[in-house]
Amino acid sequence: MDTLSAQQAIASNKAAWNESAAHHKAGAPWQKLLAAVAERGFNCLDPTLTALLQQVGISGRDAVQLGCNNGRESLSLYGLGANRVVGVDQSDAFLAQAVELASRSPHDPEFIETDIHHLPEHLLGRFDVALITIGVLNWMPDIALFMRHVASTLKEGGTLVIYETHPFLEVFDPEAANPMLPVTSYFRREPFVQHEAIVYEGTSDDATAASYWFVHTFGEVVSAAIAAGLQISHLQEYPHSNREELYDRYENQSAQLPMCYTLTAVKRSA
Ligand SMILES: C[S@@+](CC[C@H](N)C(=O)[O-])C[C@H]1O[C@@H](n2cnc3c(N)ncnc32)[C@H](O)[C@@H]1O
Repeated sequence: MDTLSAQQAIASNKAAWNESAAHHKAGAPWQKLLAAVAERGFNCLDPTLTALLQQVGISGRDAVQLGCNNGRESLSLYGLGANRVVGVDQSDAFLAQAVELASRSPHDPEFIETDIHHLPEHLLGRFDVALITIGVLNWMPDIALFMRHVASTLKEGGTLVIYETHPFLEVFDPEAANPMLPVTSYFRREPFVQHEAIVYEGTSDDATAASYWFVHTFGEVVSAAIAAGLQISHLQEYPHSNREELYDRYENQSAQLPMCYTLTAVKRSA
């Protein structure tokens, strides 16, 4: 990046997420969530991720979620039988929501406010499972560096679980006149920059700090995991969408694009 450092992008992303937080508390979904988390078996994860975590073996394990946002997914890990759960995010406004959800829950997760590139010592080498879900990898300016920090949280033999959107979707613009036409290079280096609140449904006109979304190819993600000392143990692509509603239009096509993927990788002994 020429004019913008990775540090500046990360700081600006933090501000943008904080300024977007109020949007995520407005309306019925938040009220429903507040009620739902009171159930001991609460689990908002979809069947794909639920099955994968069960297969990896989450029950009785200690887990960390990196980029946990409002903590609803971290709380869901208890619903799948996790022992201890820690959620990490750099947005204090979203972690305040996470603490509010946890206060309604019978479980007791720990939430830690930090940039993933500056993890506190006590999180290192501690977890059986490290979880990364939808919409985290693209906020990272340097995927190889990020993956080293992620791997540092795992015990030897611990498993990284990723459930992410497929990077090939970045080639398309779901709001273009013809959303099926490729408009951006898959190998684009400069980040997409947004100056409006980050919302999951529709769009928002509310101005926020700039947010920077980096495209990492599938090969770069896999190579970053390997270079961080992780051994890939599972990799699967899917035709269903796990991202914003706008992308639903790419589902159920006769010439189907890959829309999301799961990856697991095990930390090798040093
Ligand atoms: C799209 S959200 C994840 C949402 C989650 N999958 C869910 O459904 O609840 C991405 C999160 O990553 C966090 N994030 C982005 N960059 C980060 C960084 N460098 N360190 C820590 N958290 C970061 C943001 O604050 C945001 O809460």
